[in-house]
Amino acid sequence: MYIPEEKISEILNTSDIVDIVSESVILKQSGRNFFGLCPFHTEKTPSFSVNPDKQIFHCFGCSSGGNALSFVMKYHGISFPEAVRMLARKYNVVIETELIDPIKRKHVLVKESLFRLNKKIMTFYAEFLGDGSAGDAAINYLKKRGMTTEIIEKFHLGVSHDMWDAAVNFLKKEKVTRQVAINSGLILPKKQGTGYYDRFRNRLMFPIFDINMQVAGFGGRVMDDAMPKYMNSPETPIYSKSRILYGLHAAKQYCRQEGIVHIVEGYFDFLSLYQHGVKNTVASLGTALTQEQVRILKGYASKMILVFDSDDAGINAAKRSIQIFVKEGVDIRILVLPDKNDPDSFIMKHGQASFKSHAGQAKTIMQFLLELAIDTHGLAVEGRIKILDEMKQHLALIQDSALRSLYVRELAETLNIDEKAVLEKVKDAYVQKNTKRSFLMTEPKNNEILVSDPREKQILSIMLNYPELIPDVVEKNVLSCFYSKRFQEIAKKIIATKSVNDGFITNVMAKIDDDKDQELIASLAMDDFSGNDNLGKATDVLMNRIIKIRKKNENILTTKIISAEKGFDTDVTELLKKKQQEIQQLHDSQQL
Ligand code: UTP
Ligand code: MN
Repeated sequence: MYIPEEKISEILNTSDIVDIVSESVILKQSGRNFFGLCPFHTEKTPSFSVNPDKQIFHCFGCSSGGNALSFVMKYHGISFPEAVRMLARKYNVVIETELIDPIKRKHVLVKESLFRLNKKIMTFYAEFLGDGSAGDAAINYLKKRGMTTEIIEKFHLGVSHDMWDAAVNFLKKEKVTRQVAINSGLILPKKQGTGYYDRFRNRLMFPIFDINMQVAGFGGRVMDDAMPKYMNSPETPIYSKSRILYGLHAAKQYCRQEGIVHIVEGYFDFLSLYQHGVKNTVASLGTALTQEQVRILKGYASKMILVFDSDDAGINAAKRSIQIFVKEGVDIRILVLPDKNDPDSFIMKHGQASFKSHAGQAKTIMQFLLELAIDTHGLAVEGRIKILDEMKQHLALIQDSALRSLYVRELAETLNIDEKAVLEKVKDAYVQKNTKRSFLMTEPKNNEILVSDPREKQILSIMLNYPELIPDVVEKNVLSCFYSKRFQEIAKKIIATKSVNDGFITNVMAKIDDDKDQELIASLAMDDFSGNDNLGKATDVLMNRIIKIRKKNENILTTKIISAEKGFDTDVTELLKKKQQEIQQLHDSQQL
């Protein structure tokens, strides 16, 4: 559903964020703001604040933030249009859907038809499973794997027909359009001749729900040893392999409650854990996790336990996923179950208590990698050298120096090598890793290339909190001197916002789609300039400084480029041009 920006502004201006947040968080007033315990991270003292004047929330602990809509989305785990509809209903705002632009409208309609179709065919497969003789084999298979009726029903398991055209005929009967039929991924064009055939035949069917409880796609498992064991829906307008997490729709509330999510690989792993009461679990459905999946999970739990199969494929998948967790700054533990069990076989054999006690002792990344290296190379002299070589690379990635030195000590002790020697190696690896980037870092400090960021941010903050100063900013054309493209874009959106003093920040927010940008705006909106009695003057000074620094840097670089070109030193020219680009990138990457 496409919703015009004015409608979003209207909804935001009609709703009251204190009212909305109070439904889920206990708020206490303190000065102009309200405070409470943040629902998005675990905390004992309130750092979650709501500002009724600016109609925003911001957590000083986990830096989540945004407006009423982003709160509702984040809290209920629902999509933007759903949040809009929810608030529109609550505040009696009417949304006319006819105003939609025709192309967007078409996309929306296709998606809605696909969801409807998937839901119908899910029921078709589930009914076939319950259909006495036809579904007997499938029911027996599920019973053999220990699945209860309750789980089968809750997750709407089904079975596809042992035919080439059951789905084809179903689509015909439902009068599904050609475009929707092909987009659904349920049927495939025949390799020879014309017509279509069913993708899923005689398979146990697992509907895959998205976070809004809509059926986005399917997985299908054979009930014997045939290959391929599993087949999943292809990428469709509503199903994206890199974003989906099987079971999240049912697990999300438990993940929030516990602050922990278990990540397993397969459908049965998920279902078995859920059935045994380990409900804060999702399945990645493939091998390595994607960054998008990890980001989605971060909205539900700050701690993650990776429970991958202990076979080689599983361990390799775990290794590949580690980088992503480190990058995303997630507290991640790795659980390798004993005796080559996967989560399903383990919990079926040993039960919930045993699983939980193993999960409680899941390894940190470094412990996991170290044990793996020891398994591979052994602890003889040569093996120890190889282990050190391998581990120094991993250790060099750790940003937190205290943590790094703890691991260095642990590694030194395990390998029985002098701690200083280990530290040296890690430093080498660290330097090597950073030489590519150090190009900029080693530059003499006097040209101040890196220090303009906070000023750019301050300008945004002033524009947000004092819209009356925006014309000055526009007149100075200071935006063209911003190094940060992202800040530039945000500033443009602020400028384009109608200067309704009442609800200005709200109207700006309505223009911002990106989560991170919303969070940034919410945190900037909390800035307090009340101590500054001549903000106009201060802003002017700030802008002059930004412009001056930019010009100066540009001059330094241009002079260097020109003199390099005169000397026909093309290498240096290339290098300098590259540097100019790097400065740009650095500014873009340093802001999150
Ligand atoms: P596994 O091969 O580890 O299977 O694949 P499993 O989950 O333990 O399955 P069971 O217990 O034998 O039924 C893990 C996951 O990888 C995906 C599926 O999502 C599966 O659940 N997979 C596996 C595929 O997509 N295709 C395949 O052919 C195999
Ligand atoms: Mn299994």
